[in-house]
Amino acid sequence: MIKVLFVCLGNICRSPMAEFVMKDMLQKRGLSDCCHVESAATSYEEVGNPVHPGTRRVLAEHGISCAGKAARKMTAADYDAFDYLIGMDRGNIRSMNAICGGDPEGKILKLLELCGDPSDVADPWYTGDFNATWRDVNRGVNALLDKFFPA
Ligand code: 4NP
Repeated sequence: MIKVLFVCLGNICRSPMAEFVMKDMLQKRGLSDCCHVESAATSYEEVGNPVHPGTRRVLAEHGISCAGKAARKMTAADYDAFDYLIGMDRGNIRSMNAICGGDPEGKILKLLELCGDPSDVADPWYTGDFNATWRDVNRGVNALLDKFFPA
């Protein structure tokens, strides 16, 4: 069982999109039992809040539900509980390292690095462009699944 934690600043836009896209891809490939997937925030800003309506809409357009998800803050304990902690942008990576007290096991990655792209995942918070986030998240999560389960 591979355990993956997706992380962004608020855990209402980008990281829950990655969580539920990954769960959907796993289910479609019959691999749901092989991975445990969650998402969390680096900040307390949105703790307890549901997924942002923009992320809910783009997921729903692709037949994916994120019902029941509430934002939570990541903790240092997550470092031991998960095999991979995957941030969306360079600021997330800095915060994740600070929360975890470093990354001695090399578990902290930035999502698009998995497809050889140094870019950050498009942040819809200021642009409102959740479709760009959808495209980036799908590229990254596909690369992650290819890494875990090579064809
Ligand atoms: P997320 O988006 O990190 O993708 O969930 C944001 C959510 C909240 C804030 C910024 C980005 N905020 O400033 O509260």
